[in-house]
Amino acid sequence: MVCLISPPMFKNIVVFLIGSVLNASLEIMLEKENRDYGDTVVGSFLDTYHNLTLKAVMGYRWLSSRCRDVQLLIKMDDDVFFDVRKFFTRYWKRVGNDRKQKALHCLVWSRAAVGRAGKWKVEKDIFADSSYNFPYCSGFFVVISPDLIESIYIHGRNMDFFWIDDVFLYGMVPASIGGVHFIQLASQKGMLVENYDDLLWCRERYSHEKCSIWAALTSKDSDFDFEYSALLTPDLLRTGKHIPIK
Ligand SMILES: *[C@@H]1O[C@H](CO)[C@@H](O)[C@H](O)[C@H]1NC(C)=O
Repeated sequence: MVCLISPPMFKNIVVFLIGSVLNASLEIMLEKENRDYGDTVVGSFLDTYHNLTLKAVMGYRWLSSRCRDVQLLIKMDDDVFFDVRKFFTRYWKRVGNDRKQKALHCLVWSRAAVGRAGKWKVEKDIFADSSYNFPYCSGFFVVISPDLIESIYIHGRNMDFFWIDDVFLYGMVPASIGGVHFIQLASQKGMLVENYDDLLWCRERYSHEKCSIWAALTSKDSDFDFEYSALLTPDLLRTGKHIPIK
């Protein structure tokens, strides 16, 4: 998690949210990290995939107490390509103030089916309905208006945990807060895409300058690396390894 403090301090704080680990040598390394850099926030839960919701609520607790007065909060996964400049110039500066309050900007799902198989399998005794009766954000990239930070923490802390973190934090919790605006960033000519091929297609179709996409979930390291290198060396987009797709 990165906390950017506004002027006059101009200080960036990076902290790592972790739970407890069972591996002793990993535990020792984490303690060393904290001794040397003091940059870990450690929760009293086992650090597992199914406990991600606990980690996220802990993150909101940290934000509420230690990173106040933030201008903007973005939650993104570490395999997302994000063109910060394009985001601000093409999107954020054009967003009206009414859409910057109690708002979540993301890829919004409405009445999504509850998964009954695979990685996100949800047992019927946990969630009986066949679809979620509230909108929620895909968790790979979410812009959260800072006025929601404290209420996400307070509501999240007091609700029964649901292990799918994006459904919980960006669905159940906002439903409990009430009056939260969901702003859809995925549309025909989207700005945020879940499928990396959509970014390739968009650049091919409209050219890099005109393509409106500024964030994409990548599926392999080489695509991720390519995109960030191309930010520094735009020529790569012309000469790069990517073969135009049909
Ligand atoms: C989550 O953390 C708690 C507390 O450490 C632990 O008892 C539980 O097994 C963990 N859950 C999962 C699914 O890992």
